[in-house]
Amino acid sequence: MLLEDEPSDEVVRDEVMTLLVAGHETTAVALAWLFERLLRHPEALARVRAGLDDRKDPYRTAVFKEALRVRPVITNVARRLTEPVELAGYRLPAGVAVLPSVVALQLDPRYWGADAHLFRPERWLDGSPQQNAWIPFGGGARRCLGAMFAQVEVETVLAAVLRTVELEADRPADEGSEMHHITMIPKRGARVRVLRRLGNQDVRPAATESFGEV
Ligand code: HEM
Repeated sequence: MLLEDEPSDEVVRDEVMTLLVAGHETTAVALAWLFERLLRHPEALARVRAGLDDRKDPYRTAVFKEALRVRPVITNVARRLTEPVELAGYRLPAGVAVLPSVVALQLDPRYWGADAHLFRPERWLDGSPQQNAWIPFGGGARRCLGAMFAQVEVETVLAAVLRTVELEADRPADEGSEMHHITMIPKRGARVRVLRRLGNQDVRPAATESFGEV
């Protein structure tokens, strides 16, 4: 590599900042919600476990997508209009900010059916979901640059955790949500109890841990 091809300190710093700011918290929160949902759906959890030896188990991907559908990390994405637009009968002038609601779209029964509010990963295996009604990474010409990276990261961590420990939610009730910086997080930090370590069959005293550094 030629000396002038080497990235400057500034470029390296920018890349690290992108990973930390755009990539770290978002992915940590996505993982937190995924465990919050999965541990409250034992049948889905068992099915993920059954597919752990399959490097590309479609059900694991379905769980990733479904968790981001019912519990999106970023709840809206803003766009400022550069020219006037007519949208759903409204004439909007240039300069106006438009915020498509990720939550409203992803829980809309018109696109997801009467059970839109339910965590049901199977819906992704039916071939029925409308991909343009799933926008946890934004949509259109400009969307998240790290979407695929995040998917690989989340699925890898999910599989690694499930191979290592058996978990349960610390209480059956769904966790509420609250805003933290720009992300929507599980209110109680996605608390789980470690039932036992797998492999060495070490039965540990119940410990409560949080997923996601939120
Ligand atoms: C589950 C995890 C993640 C979620 C939910 C997420 C979500 C989003 C959303 C909603 C946007 C705004 C898109 C728009 O303007 O329409 C965005 C932008 C962006 N994300 Fe992510 N993200 C995640 C992980 C990552 C990771 C891991 C990286 C990098 C390694 C990353 C890098 C970026 C960058 C660079 C942008 C700005 C793109 C642009 O404006 O051109 N994200 N992300």
